[in-house]
Amino acid sequence: MAQTVFITGTSTGIGAAAVRLFAAHGWQVAATMRNPADAKFGDLPGVRLYALDVTDAASVQEAVAQAQHDFGQLDVLVNNAGYGLVGPFETATTAQIQQQFATNMFGVFAVTQAVLPALRAQHSGIIINITSVGGRTGFPMNSLYHATKFGLDGFSESLWYELAPFGIQVKVVAPGGVATDFATRSLHLTASPDDAANPYAGQMRAVLDAFSGRAGNASQPEQIAEVIYQAATDGSSQLRYIAGADAQSLLATKAQMPEADFMQMIQKSFGG
Ligand SMILES: NC(=O)c1ccc[n+]([C@@H]2O[C@H](COP(=O)([O-])OP(=O)(O)OC[C@H]3O[C@@H](n4cnc5c(N)ncnc54)[C@H](OP(=O)(O)O)[C@@H]3O)[C@@H](O)[C@H]2O)c1
Repeated sequence: MAQTVFITGTSTGIGAAAVRLFAAHGWQVAATMRNPADAKFGDLPGVRLYALDVTDAASVQEAVAQAQHDFGQLDVLVNNAGYGLVGPFETATTAQIQQQFATNMFGVFAVTQAVLPALRAQHSGIIINITSVGGRTGFPMNSLYHATKFGLDGFSESLWYELAPFGIQVKVVAPGGVATDFATRSLHLTASPDDAANPYAGQMRAVLDAFSGRAGNASQPEQIAEVIYQAATDGSSQLRYIAGADAQSLLATKAQMPEADFMQMIQKSFGG
C-alpha cells in the first residue's frame, strides 16, 4: 500500500516542490495550505488538498482528522510552513513576535501533537521539521527568525529520544538559501531600511543587500524536496540533514573555526 505524507505550507516553494516529488514517487499526499485556491500543482494523482493554517488550532485538528479519514494512515509529517521576520529586534512589535513564534514554532507543536496519537498507536512514523541553516548559526538582523529555528532544532533533538521507543523518528531538514517566495512575498520586516528615523537602517540595508547578493548561490526548492524525500525514505535514524551546498559549506567552516573568528567573518560578510 502506498505511504502517506502530510505536508504544511504547500502553496509555494519547498512545500509545493515536496508535494510534486512525493506524488511522482507514488505516495499519497495530504497537501495543506492556508488557502487551497492557491495550489499551483494542479491535479496530481494521490494528492488531496486541505485547508490548514498552522496558527489556527481548529483548522489543524480538522485537516489532520480529515486526512486520516481519507488516507487511513499517515506515515510522514513534514512541518514546512514558516516565514522570515527580518530587521532590528528593538523595533519588532509584540504582534510581529507572536506571529513569528505562532507560525514557525507553535504551529509545528500543534500539528505534531495532532498526529502523534495515531503515530504512537501504529508504532511508526517520521516527523520532518524544516528548520534552516539559521537554526544552527546566526546572521545579523534575523534574531527572531533564528530564535524560532534554533528552538525547533533543539525541540527536534530532544523529541528524537522521546519518540524513538514508540517507533517514531524525528528529523530536521536545514536548508541554506532557497529560491522561493521566502525573501519576497513571504518576508516580514520589523522596520523600514528606508526610514531615516530607523537607527538600524544602514545595518539593515547592508544585510538585505548581502542576502540579495547571495541569491545566485541559492538552491532550487526541488533540491530541498529531494533531501526531504531522502529523510523520509533512507531508513536511517539520522537526525539532521543540512540541505544545500551553501549551508553545508558554512556549517563546515563554523565547525573548524574558533567562534570569535567565525563571528567576525560573518559580521564582515554582512557589511559590519
Ligand atoms: N527559502 C529559504 O531561503 C529558506 C531557507 C531556510 C529555511 N526555509 C524554510 O523553509 C520553509 C518553507 O519556506 P519557502 O522557502 O518554501 O518559502 P515560501 O515559498 O514563502 O513558502 C512558505 C509557505 O509557508 C506557508 N505559511 C506561512 N504561514 C502559514 C500559516 N500560518 N499556516 C500555514 N501555512 C503558512 C505559506 O503559505 P501562504 O501561501 O498562505 O503564505 C507558504 O505556503 C519555511 O519554514 C522556511 O523558514 C526557507
